[in-house]
Amino acid sequence: MDNLEISDMTISDFDIISPILFSDYDNFWSAETLKSELHNENSHYIVAKLNNEVVGFAGIWKSVDNIHITNIVVKKNYRGNGIGTLLLQKLIELTKKLKFTELTLEVNANNQIARKLYSKARI
Ligand SMILES: CC(C)(COP(=O)(O)OP(=O)(O)OC[C@H]1O[C@@H](n2cnc3c(N)ncnc32)[C@H](O)[C@@H]1OP(=O)(O)O)[C@@H](O)C(=O)NCCC(=O)NCCS
Repeated sequence: MDNLEISDMTISDFDIISPILFSDYDNFWSAETLKSELHNENSHYIVAKLNNEVVGFAGIWKSVDNIHITNIVVKKNYRGNGIGTLLLQKLIELTKKLKFTELTLEVNANNQIARKLYSKARI
């Protein structure tokens, strides 16, 4: 997709995302948790923007010896366009840049789309 950019999540991005977490993001992550994550030095959140509109976000936690993906979520109307794949790719790049060699995640066994997204990933 043209004009799709990834950047670090800012408080302004959070202010745009938080009121629509329920309607546009499947209520996938609570606003309070997301806000506290932005102030957590061991977390890192990124957003995908299409023509400056936030269309997805993803985050990680850094622990002593690995990085854990906390979430990847794409705005409902924009799914199936490769945005989730790009967010995951950026988290993999970030893991390498931070010199970690282990990236973990949890996925609900019933979440077939997320399972496909993760199983396609190559480090
Ligand atoms: C999971 C999620 C992030 C995927 O984002 P997305 O932008 O739609 O994903 P992509 O377009 O990059 O597709 C990735 C792969 O998922 C699969 N996929 C995507 N949409 C699909 C659909 N509607 N049906 C079946 N498979 C699908 C495909 O295998 C696809 O790869 P391919 O196009 O090369 O075949 C998105 O569906 C979402 O936000 N879901 C709700 C939150 C969630 O469950 N997050 C994951 C757990 S942390």
